Amino acid sequence: MSKRAFITGITGQDGSYLAELLLKKGYEVHGLIRRASTFNTSRIDHLYVDPHDPSAKIFLHYGDLSDGARLVTLLAEIDPDEVYNLGAQSHVRVSFDEPEHTADTTGTGTVRLLEAVRLSGIETRFYQASSSELYGATPPPQNEETPFYPRSPYGAAKLYSYWITKNYREAYGMFAVNGILFNHESPRRGETFVTRKITRAVAAIKVGRQENLYMGNLDAIRDWGYAAEYVEGMWRMLQADEPDDYVLATGLPCTVRDFLRLSFDYVGLNWENHVRFDDRYLRPTEVDALIGDPTKAREKLGWKATVRPDELARLMVDADIEMLEHSGRPWSDEVSLESWREN
Ligand code: NAP
Ligand code: GDD
Repeated sequence: MSKRAFITGITGQDGSYLAELLLKKGYEVHGLIRRASTFNTSRIDHLYVDPHDPSAKIFLHYGDLSDGARLVTLLAEIDPDEVYNLGAQSHVRVSFDEPEHTADTTGTGTVRLLEAVRLSGIETRFYQASSSELYGATPPPQNEETPFYPRSPYGAAKLYSYWITKNYREAYGMFAVNGILFNHESPRRGETFVTRKITRAVAAIKVGRQENLYMGNLDAIRDWGYAAEYVEGMWRMLQADEPDDYVLATGLPCTVRDFLRLSFDYVGLNWENHVRFDDRYLRPTEVDALIGDPTKAREKLGWKATVRPDELARLMVDADIEMLEHSGRPWSDEVSLESWREN
């Protein structure tokens, strides 16, 4: 019997890589998708098999983290061995515009799902997508012992989710863990997060379709890794003997300015000729520096990030150029990692 997993946020960046990984490992994968008037499954279309086909191992279910009753019914029906809660309003800047919605999805959504596990009476392991945004104003390096100081409605909502996950572990003996993940990116990254915004613009400028790129704070320091590697860490957390919380990070600092330079340099352009400032991209409160210490994940889970920010920038720029130039293919990151390292 293959294991069954349930993923909220399966249509997002991480959800798509995680679904891929679990299917490769032989899991039956169930994903929660939101009903939308347009298709919102482009990141997982390549994985989808018609459920009438007996070989189908991926199944999608309509639902929403705001709908607790639906979550109870679904979990009772699916009876998964593992639940990955990746669904969220995940954009920090947007969380200042929509604080209530962010609290409802990114915060309360987690307790709805935990309650659904409890009320449906299933035995399952639970992964919560916690975030380095929890550290907020606390200076780096940050590890599992570092105090939290969130700086946005998104960070505050994730803080609630972190603690409620820990509480269900302690109160009900649930195998529930927090993966405290530092920023991780890929060609599937949402287009308004800074790395993807930069690499798409570099591609468009390179092929002559764009002149300028408008940006906010270039001094922020982030610890940017490659998303495909991070989902392996999520899975490992749920295979451990005991439930615990782990940081996943590269440990390598990179400013937004560095990432601009790396991306523009790669295609032979000078970033300073194209980047302009626009204060609409500033946040009312900023997180200045996130640099993770992933020692615990390395020692206890054997997990390590291998892709450096310069490789990440190249990989994303190439994918965006390819997408612009010829691709009917929506996500063109199937090129092997090794070939990027040679560049
Ligand atoms: P993402 O690309 O923005 O994906 C978010 C997913 O959540 C999408 O599938 C989205 O569905 C779904 N979603 C949003 N609101 C929902 C709701 N009310 N009910 C059900 N599903 C909902 O995010 P990501 O980068 O993959 O990140 C995955 C998770 O890890 C998120 O919780 C994020 O906050 C957290 N995280 C991310 C990072 C990072 O650097 N990427 C770091 C730390 C933590 P639609 O496709 O329909 O919008
Ligand atoms: N998005 C964006 N757009 N960010 C910009 C821009 C811009 O034009 N200009 C500068 N920045 C700066 C932001 O102010 C921030 O300091 C940094 O670039 C990174 O911004 P994002 O890529 O939007 O990511 P984030 O760090 O705020 O949040 C991401 O990482 C978290 C983990 O630390 C998201 O994926 C969160 O969901 C995740 O939890």
